[in-house]
Amino acid sequence: MKNILVTGGAGFIGSNFIRYILETQPETNVTNLDLLTYAGSLENLKDLPDPERYKFIQGDICDRKVVDTILKDNDIDLIIHFAAESHVDRSILEPGAFIRTNIQGTFNLLEAVKKYWTDDAAGMRKDVRFHHVSTDEVYGTLGTDDPPFSEETQISPNSPYAASKAASDHLVQAYFHTYGLPITISNCSNNYGPNQFPEKLIPLMILNALNGKPLPIYGDGGQIRDWLFVEDHCRAIWTVITDGQAGEVFNVGGENQPTNLEIVDLICGTLDQLLPDSPNVPHSRLIAHVKDRPGHDRRYAMNINKIKETLSWQPRISLHEGLKKTIIWYLNNLDWIDEITQESDYSGWEKTNYQGRDNQ
Ligand code: NAD
Ligand code: TYD
Repeated sequence: MKNILVTGGAGFIGSNFIRYILETQPETNVTNLDLLTYAGSLENLKDLPDPERYKFIQGDICDRKVVDTILKDNDIDLIIHFAAESHVDRSILEPGAFIRTNIQGTFNLLEAVKKYWTDDAAGMRKDVRFHHVSTDEVYGTLGTDDPPFSEETQISPNSPYAASKAASDHLVQAYFHTYGLPITISNCSNNYGPNQFPEKLIPLMILNALNGKPLPIYGDGGQIRDWLFVEDHCRAIWTVITDGQAGEVFNVGGENQPTNLEIVDLICGTLDQLLPDSPNVPHSRLIAHVKDRPGHDRRYAMNINKIKETLSWQPRISLHEGLKKTIIWYLNNLDWIDEITQESDYSGWEKTNYQGRDNQ
């Protein structure tokens, strides 16, 4: 029996992960610590399988008392740390929250577990794990012909978001090297799938297209991301925790290289097929190039040989299949969209980020 603490489990990936664990791991109890910022919602955690094994606590990962109490009261032996400020555009406008949650919050968790998992007589426990969920963005940006990021690529973050995640990765590594804290880190590419907050590219484009609103492409739309369906990411995290050695870092990705324009074209084409009678067909006519993101990373690509070869993990859901599943999920969950956009002042964010980014 494992007693898991998930941080940030009311967000996009964390909530998918909790569902995945309750479905696939009958021997686990899950405690979810989440502050419920604009990005977190209990709407993401409705109708969980086997809810008796799940507990929610609203609180801040920067609050040491809260973290200490949770560790003790729930006899936690595994932490999966998702909680973060996660949106690059917000980090450009308001970086302070990223420094606080992503760096100080991670530091606070590390300090708390170091104390809780150290036995006065036997030293640091070996049967525990702190898994840190990180991003490919810590590696910086690639040119068209550069080889993909491997675990050996120099950390070279460009946005305040990426810099704060890189700092947290370094702290987690330091607690392994200095104190012997059993950690693992996964650096994953862009995720997409059900329950993703609509400020991110894929849900944003689906929702704007459904509402006949412009589809804002930053700059020329030639930027390249590697995309992974969220369920594949959840399985990768669990594989790293159960089969990866303490101290190891694994890159995770979907091994695809579409441009943003190609992704948006795919979304538009799929919507044309699914909603042939919509007045917005063809949805691609809504595409609008707008002012670029400052410091916009041009290309991310992931070398995932290590996780494939040592842990036999590989993505199962192709980009075409995953995008179709995602679009159908959003079409079937219009109530969720209403709730999420209302409780998070989403229209305020739209104004802040897109006003003044006139068509180019
Ligand atoms: P998200 O923004 O959807 O969710 C973040 C969650 O953290 C929210 O529920 C929020 O309420 C919670 N949170 C924020 N500050 C907190 C605090 N101080 N204390 C407690 N909870 C707090 O993010 P996501 O997309 O689900 O990403 C989860 C993790 O995965 C992040 O660490 C992110 O860096 C990483 N990651 C994301 C992607 C991606 O494409 N979304 C890719 C690779 C890695
Ligand atoms: P995003 O989903 O914010 O993820 P990240 O910046 O972490 O990769 O953006 C994905 C890509 O889509 C990125 O190159 C920026 C671009 N993008 C747009 O072109 N328009 C938009 O309105 C948004 C939100 C993103």
